[in-house]
Amino acid sequence: MSRQTNDKGTLVTVANPQSISSEAYRKLRTNIQFSSIDSQIRTIMIASAVSGEGKTTTIGNLAVAYAQEGKKVLLMDTDLRKPALHRMFNVPNHIGLTSVLSSQYQVTEVLRETVVEGLHVLTSGPIPPNPSEMIGSRKMLALLEDLKEEYDVILFDTPPVLAVTDALIISSLCDGVILVVSAGKVKKDLVKKAKGYLEHVNARILGAALNNVQHSKRRYGEDA
Ligand SMILES: Nc1ncnc2c1ncn2[C@@H]1O[C@H](COP(=O)(O)OP(=O)(O)OP(=O)(O)O)[C@@H](O)[C@H]1O
Ligand SMILES: [Mg+2]
Repeated sequence: MSRQTNDKGTLVTVANPQSISSEAYRKLRTNIQFSSIDSQIRTIMIASAVSGEGKTTTIGNLAVAYAQEGKKVLLMDTDLRKPALHRMFNVPNHIGLTSVLSSQYQVTEVLRETVVEGLHVLTSGPIPPNPSEMIGSRKMLALLEDLKEEYDVILFDTPPVLAVTDALIISSLCDGVILVVSAGKVKKDLVKKAKGYLEHVNARILGAALNNVQHSKRRYGEDA
């Protein structure tokens, strides 16, 4: 569906909106919007087979790309095992999603504004002993329904599909899933297996994004 290039720096869409990489994230956004004619894609996650393929980098930049288009965007850290969005956006994480799911705080108390206008982040909060249970809870469903009233687009950062069930649970709540594949890093059969898992829970896979494409490896005439 789209190719991300390998500029260093996780939020290139903020640091350098005119770069080729930022353009790739805008293209990913446009492709998602065009992938569904009859219904809008408003809840999105990036899946990957294994760790380190670029889910957090991609979802963070995609969230910025949506906000830069004027959308009201919420980016949620549903990687409750290895949360990362608080660092990416430099916001506190002593309270967050798990504080809401455990009824200690209201969601309005834990939502964070970011440097990007129109983009809010809901960080993970303290790491719980039972992440899958929390992600799959009825409270999570109800929270999501409330948040959909407030935001145009909600994006989720998730753990790898093959590691734990959390990503599959989130995928079944999403209008669309993009599978990110790290170029040359992950074996094809693992990608196939992850795709099979997602299909098994009826996730709507919109397409794949190839990450870490080396400029030098790109053939003449291929786009970014
Ligand atoms: N397109 C890119 N260009 C440069 N660096 C990248 C790119 N994509 C990812 N990285 C780097 O690769 C590392 C892993 O990326 P990232 O954290 O986004 O992966 P992940 O799929 O979220 O991993 P995990 O499953 O462990 O959460 C990070 O250090 C990130 O900065
Ligand atoms: Mg991650």
